Parts: sequence; C-alpha cells; structure tokens
Amino acid sequence: MIYNKIDDVQAFLKSQKIKNKSIGFVPTMGALHQGHISLVEAAKKNNDIVVVSIFVNPIQFNNPDDLKKYPRTLEEDSIMLKEAHCDLIFYPTVEEMYPEEAIKTYDFGELEKVMEGAFRPGHFNGVAVVVKKLFDIIGANNAYFGKKDFQQLAVIRKLVELEKIPINIIACPTEREADGLAMSSRNRRLTPKERPQAAEIFKALTYVKNQRAQYSPQELEKKALEFLAKDFKAEYFQIVDGYSLQNISSWDDTNYPVACVAAHLGSVRLIDNLELL
Ligand code: PAJ
Repeated sequence: MIYNKIDDVQAFLKSQKIKNKSIGFVPTMGALHQGHISLVEAAKKNNDIVVVSIFVNPIQFNNPDDLKKYPRTLEEDSIMLKEAHCDLIFYPTVEEMYPEEAIKTYDFGELEKVMEGAFRPGHFNGVAVVVKKLFDIIGANNAYFGKKDFQQLAVIRKLVELEKIPINIIACPTEREADGLAMSSRNRRLTPKERPQAAEIFKALTYVKNQRAQYSPQELEKKALEFLAKDFKAEYFQIVDGYSLQNISSWDDTNYPVACVAAHLGSVRLIDNLELL
C-alpha cells in the first residue's frame, strides 16, 4: 500500500490503533538496500504494523547537487518493501510535507557542532524538522534508525527528549557488503574502479579498533588519515565519546569510544563509524 497523503495514512493507522495494534516506523529517503531492510525486519519483529516513509527531504541537503543526484528508485523500493512485509509506504510530495514556509530551528548544542554538523551546516536541523513531522503524522510506538548514521541517531534521541515525543528509538547495527563497505544509497554512484577502493574506509576503522591498546586516540586518528589520503579526500576521522560525540584525548576519557569518518571518493561522500569496544 502506497499513500501520498497525510490524511489517508492517518485514517488507516487510526483504524489499526483502535484495534490496539502497535506501530513500528522506519523513516528513509528511498533507494533502499539491505541496510534499510534490516530496519524493516527489526520493526516487523516487534510491532503489528510497519510503516516506511520514503521522502528525499530537500531541507537536509546542504549541497544542491547532492539533492539532484540523490537516487530515486520507487519501483524497486516497493518490491523490496513488499518482500519484507512492510504494511504501508508513506511517499509524500514536498508540498504535502512543507505547505508552510516557516521551519523551526532546534538547538542541539555541541552535538550538532562536530563532525557532520561542522561539515554540513543546517543538515541536522533539516533532519530534525522532517523526523518530527513524520513522528507526528505516524504516531508510532517504535522508530528504527541505523547506527550507520551515528550522529543522526544522537540528534534524534535529543529531539525526542527536547520535544517530549512519546516514542521508543531503536538503534540497529550497520549492514555491510562482503568487503566491509557500509551499505549506502550513495554507493551506487561509485565507479567500478572506486567501488573496491571504498572498502578501505572499513579497513581503516578496523585497524584503529585492533590497535587500540598500542596507540593513543590522536595517534590512531593521524594514522587513519594518512592511510586514507592515498585514495580519499577525508573530511574528518575522529575518535569520540559515543554519547557526547566530543573528541577524547585519552582512552580513559570514555567507556564508549567510537571512530567516525567522512571522506570523499571521487564525487561521492561516504560516512562510516565503528564502536571501538
Ligand atoms: P536514509 O539515508 O535513507 O537512511 C534511512 C535509515 O536507514 C537511517 O536510519 C539510516 O541510518 C539507516 N541505514 C542506512 N544505511 C544503513 C546500513 N548500512 N545499515 C543499517 N542501517 C542503515 O537517514 C536518512 O535516510 C534521513 O536522514 C532520514 C532519517 C530519513 C530523514 O530524512
């Protein structure tokens, strides 16, 4: 079932909520892959009804070219979602989601000033605005997000706290290709030469995880950046506290160290992270 209109989605969900059905929600921008499907599967396990939204949210793109090139594959997406037993696809237009001009500005403090926040100004505000709207429309019990977008997950948790939204946020593990490349809709834009090179990001992350006992966080950040410099233009490689997302200067600073990276390979910007536990 594909619905474009908020009213239609709400009418359907109302009929389910009356029957005490629990609702699991997976927000996406489409161009689906196994990473997205793993979220749908997790939702399916713990909810009666699973809703997936597909909406390429213009206000979270700070680069107009990235928005233009973002893959749109509704037909394939619906087939994958049917196979995964998704009950409802919400596929709104931009006008349906943003009839009004005013867009709220959130204050996520330090969370949005680092890493993706520093390199993609306005990005997380755009994510927060659309996720809040989607949460309000769907009224789900549980919402599923991937750890692939580690900082996004932290921002969503903060949004739920700030806006006191009655919903459980469930974090799901990053799905990877056989060579370790994190699945991403943007991977389809890699050339045949770039595709194997892209796996070096995971190699750098794994190296850092394995060398934890030998080096300081700073030394490992430096080594990883040197390793990536061969094929990538890295924006950052940072080892942070997984809760505050602030840099750590010593391993003693945190009990939850996470390495986060963003790097350009040709025209594609890739992000990934690994918990160093
Ligand atoms: P999108 O990039 O389509 O991702 C939708 C969800 O899939 C996010 O929660 C993301 O973390 C998760 N995901 C992506 N790749 C994954 C992987 N390899 N393994 C596991 N999960 C993965 O993130 C967005 O869309 C948007 O910002 C959105 C939240 C929908 C707001 O517009």
